[in-house]
Amino acid sequence: MNILVTGGAGYIGSHTCVSLLEAGHTVIVADNLCNSKRENVEKIMQITDKEVTFYEIDLTDAKAVDVVFRNYKVDGVIHLAGLKAVGESVDMPLAYYYNNIVSTLVLAKACQKFNVNRFVFSSSATVYGDNTLPFVETMNLLPTTNPYGETKAMIERILADISKANPAFSVSILRYFNPVGAHESGLIGEEPNGIPNNLMPYITQVAKGKLEKLRVFGNDYPTVDGTGVRDYIHVIDLAEGHVAALNNLTEGVHIYNLGTSQGTSVLELVKAFEEANSIEVPYEIVDRRPGDIALCYADASKAKRELGWTAERDIIAMCRDAWRFEKNY
Ligand code: NAD
Ligand code: UD1
Repeated sequence: MNILVTGGAGYIGSHTCVSLLEAGHTVIVADNLCNSKRENVEKIMQITDKEVTFYEIDLTDAKAVDVVFRNYKVDGVIHLAGLKAVGESVDMPLAYYYNNIVSTLVLAKACQKFNVNRFVFSSSATVYGDNTLPFVETMNLLPTTNPYGETKAMIERILADISKANPAFSVSILRYFNPVGAHESGLIGEEPNGIPNNLMPYITQVAKGKLEKLRVFGNDYPTVDGTGVRDYIHVIDLAEGHVAALNNLTEGVHIYNLGTSQGTSVLELVKAFEEANSIEVPYEIVDRRPGDIALCYADASKAKRELGWTAERDIIAMCRDAWRFEKNY
């Protein structure tokens, strides 16, 4: 199939392009490079030895999006483009609502106009709020406390309504847990701007000596060692989840958790990183980060049942691959 990957130059998008190409699909990337580099598209081609068509466009620009759909017979869309920094979304709500919502509306309209009926969307476990654990797809969504999370919940509803009116519009909503790691080539991976907000890139930068020590946000949560627990998933497993979702898409709206169903605490992740890479990660315990929940992990059994997909790579592989990329980068 000819698959349009929006945000395909970004962290998860670039790995998804690799998995799609390896599965035999043709890939067209649309990205405005607001949080990524053009070189990533070259690297996707280098890894796979296959061609990728690249459009440097803003998805809120309906005319530019139309050009892509006119030039190619698009069979399906994987929509990863979006702004994703939680803290920034609190400071710049308008930019987040505008970018994330309008780009989705423009894309959905183009799909309608050009009769494209396969649509896969990058959502987030953040839409569960602090529901009871493990998070299951059937749960009611809870407020997310930040505009970024709200855009995900709103887009899920918008896509569901479009599909309700036209069931042929087949939608797969993928709720990612905590994607980490990198392609084993070390060529593509996560490249946060400035000081990372997320744990794994912070750890790799401490290991490299770019940052002095990790600040562990709280050790008084009701968890195995008091530190926050998350469901980390290797970005390659996540990428393969997109291919499985696309290949198994049927009419209507389908929601899938993409996680491992396993929780890992901050200190367990630090220990695994040290073991995997024989390198020390100095840390100190500081206050809790406002807005954090104690535990977050998936029930990922639906994706296994319906898509035949499960995450295969363990925490050690995640730490090893994240570090390999950081060393190269
Ligand atoms: P990323 O920033 O690396 O990739 C997003 C890409 O979208 C970037 O290349 C950016 O340039 C592009 N983009 C943004 N707005 C655009 C626009 N208007 N037009 C064209 N391109 C635009 O982020 P990522 O980590 O790869 O995340 C991909 C998707 O997955 C996002 O929608 C994000 O919200 C979602 N997600 C990410 C995580 C995570 O932890 N990384 C977790 C849950 C969900
Ligand atoms: C973040 C986002 C969330 C997104 C998710 C998936 C926030 C507030 N939330 O959540 O919307 O869906 O990523 O990528 O950013 N930690 C430290 N020290 C650090 C960084 C993190 O101790 O320097 C701890 C956190 O308190 C948490 C765990 O590490 O317990 C993971 O944090 P992080 O990587 O930011 O992910 P989430 O909190 O799950």
